[in-house]
Amino acid sequence: MSATVVVGAQWGDEGKGKLIDVLAASADMVVRFQGGSNAGHTLVVNGKKTVLHLIPSGILHPEKMCLIASGVVVDIFGLAEEIRKLKAAGFSISPAQLLISDNATALLPYHKALDQAREKDLSDGKIGTTGKGIGPAYEDRAARRALVMSDLYDNKNLMAKLEFVLKEKNALLTKLYDVTEIKAKDIYDQIQTVIEEIKPYRTADVSLLVAQKLKLNRRVLFEGAQGTLLDIHHGTYPYVTSSSTLAGAGSISAGVGPHHLSKIVGVFKAYCTRVGSGPFPTELTNDVGARIQKEGHEFGSTTGRARRCGWLDLVALKYAIRLNGINSLAMMKLDVLSDHEQLGICTGYKLNGEIIHEFPTSTELVSQLEPVIEYLPGWKEDLTQVKAIKDLPMKALAYIDFVTRHVGCPIDVVSVGPDRDQTLWIKPVFQD
Ligand code: GDP
Ligand code: IMO
Ligand code: MG
Repeated sequence: MSATVVVGAQWGDEGKGKLIDVLAASADMVVRFQGGSNAGHTLVVNGKKTVLHLIPSGILHPEKMCLIASGVVVDIFGLAEEIRKLKAAGFSISPAQLLISDNATALLPYHKALDQAREKDLSDGKIGTTGKGIGPAYEDRAARRALVMSDLYDNKNLMAKLEFVLKEKNALLTKLYDVTEIKAKDIYDQIQTVIEEIKPYRTADVSLLVAQKLKLNRRVLFEGAQGTLLDIHHGTYPYVTSSSTLAGAGSISAGVGPHHLSKIVGVFKAYCTRVGSGPFPTELTNDVGARIQKEGHEFGSTTGRARRCGWLDLVALKYAIRLNGINSLAMMKLDVLSDHEQLGICTGYKLNGEIIHEFPTSTELVSQLEPVIEYLPGWKEDLTQVKAIKDLPMKALAYIDFVTRHVGCPIDVVSVGPDRDQTLWIKPVFQD
């Protein structure tokens, strides 16, 4: 059986966590493949909320295997805290259930210090990072000086590796950013406070575990973090994250041939949000935007920052469909749009006096775009109690239909509330 990848089709926070939690009920394995604790994935089950940052969103299903693949940057302190919180909430989190690749990058306190010092230093041009150390951790990986998870279990060589890496980090922190030096021994000691909690979950070979499941014809879900427009190569660079957020990254991170990834689910909100800096063509800086922010509770799950809100952008959505190879869409948060007189949808952009229908690859050009907005009539009804697609108001169905026709990709799932059971199916995502 093939694998299914779930990716964000906008600027993150589309509702990937909720969808993964729902789909995990019919899968065998969930693999988180990129990012780190910059992600905040919210699951709601019978009104009870769980926010996950590193642990895959299948974890509330005790019998499913959850893997953290090598492309993830693992903040071990955040991870230990997440495990503790889940245990305190009554989930046992057995070592058979959660497995962390030995080859994943270890994200350590000096990565966070550098991330925060750099953001502070960028008075005007801030990226608006989450401050979780993501950029510096991926830099170390690419520069071949990162510590990987297996290094943290190797007490004999750990101190020397920390000393080596901190030599350069401290030069930057103290000389360039005027931040206090970080001592290798302190980091070493801090690691010892959590490593025994994490060690039971170590695994040498995520690729092999995934291959074994696929060979047995079991369903494997790949969980993306962030969103397409935050992708390091194809997003609105430099206002992006430091990893590839696209579906193809799942194949690389987990070590699985790309032909296995045949179902690519793009998750998008019925409107758009963005947190952090960078261009956002359909942003509404008026009271309509403020209303969507309030009614959608658009405040970050990781940093608590207010998310910028705007109308649904179909040009950007089509770009995401193309970049990822999305062949199934999940529309989230449709309930938030109830009781608007009219709903705007962006179908093109005005740029230098011309109308264009493709998302520009130049961020400079993206920041000059003026959205072309078509208006559809809104509906009055509350959608949160609707149990089947056919029971949605006609105008909500017309909104869904407009999007489907415009982007040329089926919407299989519509979400009308944060809870697991507020999920409506147009077509099952898993058909085999
Ligand atoms: P993720 O990062 O893509 O997993 O998304 P987040 O969890 O950061 O943000 C999505 C937010 O919307 C969370 O608070 C979810 O509980 C909530 N949510 C998800 N789906 C729906 C929905 O259909 N309706 C409403 N009202 N909230 C939703
Ligand atoms: P989930 O998985 C929304 C944004 C930050 C910032 C930029 C770079 O919950 O959808 P970073 O800390 O990654 O270096 O920040 O990316 N960002 C997210 N925005 N959802 C996320 O994750 C994000 N992870 C990072 O706000 O603009
Ligand atoms: Mg989020």
